Amino acid sequence: MTGIAVLGSTNMDLVAYVARAPRLGETITGRELRTVPGGKGANQAVAAARAGGDVTMIGAVGNDAYGAVLRTSLEHAGVDTDLLHTAEGPSGTAHIVVDDLGGNSIVVIPGANGTVTALGPGEMAAIASADLLLLQLELPLTAVTEGARVAHAQGVRTILTPSPVQPLPPELLDCVDLLIPNEHEAAALTGATDPHAAARLLLAQVPAVVITLGAKGCLYAARGGEPVLFPAPEVTAVDTTGAGDTFVGTLAVALGERRPVPESLAWASSAAALCVQRPGASSSMPYRGEIDAA
Ligand code: RIB
Repeated sequence: MTGIAVLGSTNMDLVAYVARAPRLGETITGRELRTVPGGKGANQAVAAARAGGDVTMIGAVGNDAYGAVLRTSLEHAGVDTDLLHTAEGPSGTAHIVVDDLGGNSIVVIPGANGTVTALGPGEMAAIASADLLLLQLELPLTAVTEGARVAHAQGVRTILTPSPVQPLPPELLDCVDLLIPNEHEAAALTGATDPHAAARLLLAQVPAVVITLGAKGCLYAARGGEPVLFPAPEVTAVDTTGAGDTFVGTLAVALGERRPVPESLAWASSAAALCVQRPGASSSMPYRGEIDAA
């Protein structure tokens, strides 16, 4: 079984379903509110566990009612939460608007995630003994960078999802093996709106990159080669929240199993396509059997 450490966020997602997102200064009436476990880190952990990974979650929840629910939800997915600390104060929350086309916009309030500023010996040991480390940017950059450094020093493959996007320090990028931005994040990081151009620019900083393109699929590029487009299965999306996280968690399992990159990308794309056809983030992530069948 692939050992995967996830150093990342855990949020309670408060999702408002609306016909279309409100403009600035506008009040609209929505259809439904759902409260579902999310957070980019926890989502990737659940996706990887359901895809067959042996997953350890490193991070923090608050000592509020959400914290207990978030922990239980990870445990139900089979994720080890021994290194998911309980901090004084509220858990992270994400305030999400999902429109009738399945598109979303998200405001994250870090809460307990913001307390994860450094790693202790237990967290470092868990990263060092994993096959892969998954990182995103919803924890303080100090902890993310420290995690990447520990992994790099031990030869543990590191995958970074640069979201929410922000400038990435060289000391972090130097320790990243695979960067997985979406097309907007790739453009923000490079200034290039064409994903092929963005991929080429990113290869100057990391050895390999996958730019996710939503319904259009994903673009894979590794140093020494040209970017290659992998199309996504055609499906009707009801909620794209967590699709990127599903892709990353599932891809990590496939790469950990040493499957070829094209097969791994196709498997992860199938998982993301299943995710967008159901509402919610972690609640919509498929199990290994479903991905194989798709
Ligand atoms: O990537 C989707 C996730 O982003 C949501 O679950 C939300 O918690 C935010 O972190």
